[in-house]
Formats: sequence, C-alpha cells, structure tokens
Amino acid sequence: MSETLPKELVIATRNPGKLIEVREILLSLPVTLRSLLDFPESTEVEETGATFADNASIKARAYALQTGAWTLSDDSGLEVDALGGAPGVYSARYAGESATDEERVELLLSKLARTGDSLRRARFICAVSLADPAGRILNVSEGTCEGRIAHSPRGRQGFGYDPVFIPEGFEQTFGELSSEVKQIISHRARALSGTSAFLLKLFGSRG
Ligand code: IMP
Repeated sequence: MSETLPKELVIATRNPGKLIEVREILLSLPVTLRSLLDFPESTEVEETGATFADNASIKARAYALQTGAWTLSDDSGLEVDALGGAPGVYSARYAGESATDEERVELLLSKLARTGDSLRRARFICAVSLADPAGRILNVSEGTCEGRIAHSPRGRQGFGYDPVFIPEGFEQTFGELSSEVKQIISHRARALSGTSAFLLKLFGSRG
C-alpha cells in the first residue's frame, strides 16, 4: 500500500453530469478533487471487463498510471429485467458508440413497447474503484438503486436514462426529481459512500 495520503484525487471521467454528482458527494473529503478535464493529454481507456467492478478497476488503474495521481473511477449502467439485464455494462454504448442519450432512451423504450407495468423492473448499478498512484486497487464499492422504466421520457434533470427511470418509492422519474433526492438514493451516491468511508478511515489511520 502507498505510504502517503492523497492530496489530490482524480475523478476519472469527462462526463459533466457524472462529474457534478461525484464532486457534490465527495466535497467534504480533505483532498483537492480533479477530473480528466485537468489532464487533456490522458487517453481513453477501453472498458473490456465483464462486470461493472472489473471496468471500474481497469479504468482506475490505467488512469492512475497515466496521471500519476490517486484516481477514482466508476462504471455504471442500467439493468432491465425484461431485457435479461441489458443494456448492463453496455449502457453507454447502447444504440452505437456515437448515439445520443435521447437515441439510447428511444431504443430502450422501443424494446419495451409491449412490456406491461409489472415487468418493467430495472435497477441502476454503480461500482467505484480507487487506485493509488502506482495503480494498485485499494477499494471497490458498489451501490444499487431499484426502480422501473417509465413509458415515455419525463423531466430534464440528470443525464443518460434519468428521464425514464422511476426509483422505487417514487412516481416521478430521476429526470423530474430534484438533484438533492438523487444524491441521496442513487446507485452512485450509495457506491461513493463506501469509497468515502474507506478514504476517511485511511486519513484517520495515517493522518
Ligand atoms: P459509464 O459508467 O461511463 O460506462 O456509462 C454508464 C452509462 O450508463 C451512462 O452513459 C448512462 O447512459 C448510464 N447511466 C449510468 N448512471 C446513470 C445515471 O445516474 N442516470 C442515467 N443514466 C446513467
């Protein structure tokens, strides 16, 4: 394990929606938060893993080695029961590499066109992996948010599949709910609370 504590933590994403969410959740940590936007020379890492945890760790390790900094990477996606768990780890590439969020949502809704309310169960899953500057994985935390897929997109909050995801216990989609609500119940918030607890313990034990 690295002997020193992180002063800077790179959040390995260029997705502005994700970045906002992760920054808000980790704000209280005693580190300077940076992102891949601060490392324009960094090159894209392919997500070749079979699970969210594999992909999060592949990216955390690779970007830590590229940036020379402590790096946190997440991999997340949507699993829909009626589609056998698809789009799953392919959520970002569903409908093709260059498709837009709107096109991905449209494809998802078209595949569920004949699926009734009782079978539209789905969940967002997120794995967050933390690597030290040497690329060693120190922690992997996972979070899940159960819900169902709406019949049409609603709301403009968030990103990705948010306008068609209705979290359990609510009638509104993540696109309609306030960011405050999403920051408490989302898969990403739940995974990051594990990462955050790990980092606080690390600071406590070595600070
Ligand atoms: P990745 O984690 O960057 O590989 O991409 C995950 C993909 O899953 C995103 O591009 C979105 O399409 C979807 N996704 C993950 N988390 C969320 C979320 O909180 N809201 C909506 N869509 C999400």
